[in-house]
Amino acid sequence: MGFVRNLIYEQYFLSVPEPTASFAHKTVVITGSNGGLGKEAARHVARLGCPRLILGVRNTKAGEEARRDIIATTTATESSIEVWEVDLSSFASVRNFARRAERTLDRLDVLICNAGINTFKYAEREGYESMLTVNVLSTYLMATEFIPLLERTASLGPVNGDPAPRPPHLTIVGSDTHMMASFPERNEPPSKVLSKISADCQKSGRLRGQYAESKLLILLLARDLVAQRGMENSSVVINVTNPGMCYSDLVHEVAGPAKVLNFVLRARSTEEGGGALVNGASFGKQSHGQFLSSNKVHKGSALSRDGETGRKLCTAVDQALKKT
Ligand SMILES: NC(=O)c1ccc[n+]([C@@H]2O[C@H](COP(=O)([O-])OP(=O)(O)OC[C@H]3O[C@@H](n4cnc5c(N)ncnc54)[C@H](OP(=O)(O)O)[C@@H]3O)[C@@H](O)[C@H]2O)c1
Repeated sequence: MGFVRNLIYEQYFLSVPEPTASFAHKTVVITGSNGGLGKEAARHVARLGCPRLILGVRNTKAGEEARRDIIATTTATESSIEVWEVDLSSFASVRNFARRAERTLDRLDVLICNAGINTFKYAEREGYESMLTVNVLSTYLMATEFIPLLERTASLGPVNGDPAPRPPHLTIVGSDTHMMASFPERNEPPSKVLSKISADCQKSGRLRGQYAESKLLILLLARDLVAQRGMENSSVVINVTNPGMCYSDLVHEVAGPAKVLNFVLRARSTEEGGGALVNGASFGKQSHGQFLSSNKVHKGSALSRDGETGRKLCTAVDQALKKT
C-alpha cells in the first residue's frame, strides 16, 4: 500500500489502544519528553507505575515544568521523575547523557528515542543538515551508546516482584512518512552519502522531503542493527514505532496548513500518539527489528527492508561518528 492510502486507512480506520502494560519496577528514559508525544508517553509510563523515569530534554526548564505537570496528574512521586539534559544537535551531549546513565542507573528497562525535528529551514548541526543530525545520527548514536546498559539489564533479569516481566525495549520513534522517501543518495559511496544528503538539502525543494528521508534512514539503521550486527537473538527488543499523524508542535513552522491537514486526516490526540510509543516500548519480542504502526507490525516500505542499502548507510554513519 502506498503512503497516502496507508495514511488515510490508518488515520480513519485504525486507532491506538490505551497502554495498560505495567511499568512497576521498570526504569525508563524518554528523550524529547518536555512536550508533545514524549511528554504524553512519559505521563502514561508514570500512570502505569514507573518508579524511575528520566525525562531527557534540551530545555531543562521546560523539562521541570513537564515533570511537575506529570506528578500533578498521576500518582507519581516527587522522587520517581528526574530531568536530565541532552541536546541531540551535539554528539558530545548525547555521549555525556549515555555516560551519565551508565554511571547513575543500576538498570534500564526502556529507552524511547523520541526527540526529533521537522523543519523547512536549512541549518547545519555537527556539519550535517539538522534533521539528518538530530533524527538520524544522534538518535542512532544514542541507541548504540545505550545498548550495553540495556543488555546488562537483560542479564540481570526482572526486579523481584515485577508483575509484568519483559525484556528491555529500545523504541525509536519512526514515521509512516518514510514510505515517501526514495533516498536518492543511496548510490553514493559510503564516505560521501551523508555530505551528499546535506548538499542536496541546500538545493531548493529537496529539504521538503528531508523529514521523511530522515525517518527512512533511522528505520534502515535500526533494521541493520538487528539483522547484521549479531542482535537477531539479542535479549533486548529493538523496534521503530510510528505514532501516526498526531497533534503536536512538530510542524509549528507551518502551523496553519498543519491544522487543516490534522483536521482532514483526523490527527490523533497527543495522548493517543504518546500511548502508541508506550505500546511500542512494551510490545515484546515479536516486534524485534520491526516497524510498528497502529499497534501492529507493519512491513514498512520496500526500501526500508533493503538490507544492502541499510548496510551501506550503517557503514557511512559509523565512519562519520568515529571521526567525532
Ligand atoms: N506528531 C506527529 O504527527 C508525528 C508523526 C510521526 C512521528 N512523529 C515523531 O514523534 C516524535 C515526537 O515529535 P512530536 O510530534 O511530539 O513533536 P514536538 O511536539 O515538536 O516534540 C519534539 C520533542 O523533541 C525535542 N527535541 C527537538 N530537538 C531536540 C534536540 N536537538 N535535542 C533534544 N530534544 C529535542 C523537543 O524539545 P524542544 O521542546 O526543546 O524543542 C520536543 O520535546 C518525533 O520523533 C517525530 O518525528 C510525530
